[in-house]
Amino acid sequence: MATTLITHIGELFTADTEGPTTIEDAALVIEGAHVAWVGPATEAPAADEMVDAGGRAVIPGFVDSHSHLVFAGDRAQEFAARMTGTPYAAGGIRTTVAATRAATDEQLTSHVARLVAEMRRQGTTTVEIKSGYGLTVHDEARSLAVARQFTEETTFLGAHVVPEGDPGEYVDLVTGPMLDAAKEHARWIDVFCERGAFDVDQARAILGAGAAAGLRGRLHANQLTYGGGVRLAAELGLVAVDHCTYLADEDVDALRDSGTIATLLPGVEFSTKQPYPDARRLLDAGVRVALASDCNPGSCFTSSLPLCIALAVREMGMTPTEALLAATYGGAAALDRDDVGVLAPGKRADLALLDAPSHVHLAYRPGVPLVLGTWVGGRPV
Ligand code: NIG
Ligand code: FE
Repeated sequence: MATTLITHIGELFTADTEGPTTIEDAALVIEGAHVAWVGPATEAPAADEMVDAGGRAVIPGFVDSHSHLVFAGDRAQEFAARMTGTPYAAGGIRTTVAATRAATDEQLTSHVARLVAEMRRQGTTTVEIKSGYGLTVHDEARSLAVARQFTEETTFLGAHVVPEGDPGEYVDLVTGPMLDAAKEHARWIDVFCERGAFDVDQARAILGAGAAAGLRGRLHANQLTYGGGVRLAAELGLVAVDHCTYLADEDVDALRDSGTIATLLPGVEFSTKQPYPDARRLLDAGVRVALASDCNPGSCFTSSLPLCIALAVREMGMTPTEALLAATYGGAAALDRDDVGVLAPGKRADLALLDAPSHVHLAYRPGVPLVLGTWVGGRPV
């Protein structure tokens, strides 16, 4: 298999929790789709090809464990109104549902392709993609089929909001025919557990039906209000629960005891003017934390993990190192993946070259496109 040596790396951020997290004056060898070697540049083995990083930093590609990329239309006016005081509400989702139902498969696919390319340019190499803007049997299944063309990490979110009609009948649809049609295209099932969407009992029933169909659970919880969603995730032993903005002490204790990862989505708070989640409180309590974009047309239309890292550092009490770990290793853990998010021998060669000498610059230089190149499975993209 062909080998590539990336050398003269000013700082290699491995995100390796079992070895050194950073190595200065480093090199990395790629063999096929995987990392074969990391270490000091002076000790690097020879390879077929060489890339000179010019003293710049190399980091694992970001693992964005939460996005809603399958949609049509936008809600720029809703965003503009929010900035002058209109609060965010779950009901705005229905606007995107109407536009998504009206779009062709080709339109949805090309839109996702554009957003995935945008993510790649910003260093994201693994992305989870949810359905949730179709909300009919047909539109949820086709949303997932579109998402599946771009990632294995697809999530059925039929329980995003009740689109129309009786809520009880809609839950029956989601847990019955919609789940049947969705399950072949999805790895995960998710519920928006929130005022204006689904309550804890409904979420429990939907996640239970998903588990019986072979899908693993995740949850949107405690985004806009305090409530029982985070505790439900902990009780069910879900791998991750996402948002975690409004947390009581008992929620924090439950997360720590269950090991469920709190995935924080600071782009949402930026775009909704809600308070940022308190990452420091979670980390100090021993809760595992991930950062993700939540890229969607309503609450947060950014695909930028560098922006999320900058916000987490500036507004949420994370150090630059903690924030980058949460967007790489943490995102991978939130998808129960151990093959990505870390640069160590045997892991996938998914990485980004920064036009900066250290990872700290991701937060230090907010808004600056620092990603010079992205490799996925050992190949530049
Ligand atoms: O994760 N919270 C629920 N779903 C999305 C927002 C969807 C929308 O507003 O269109 C979120 O924030
Ligand atoms: Fe979301």
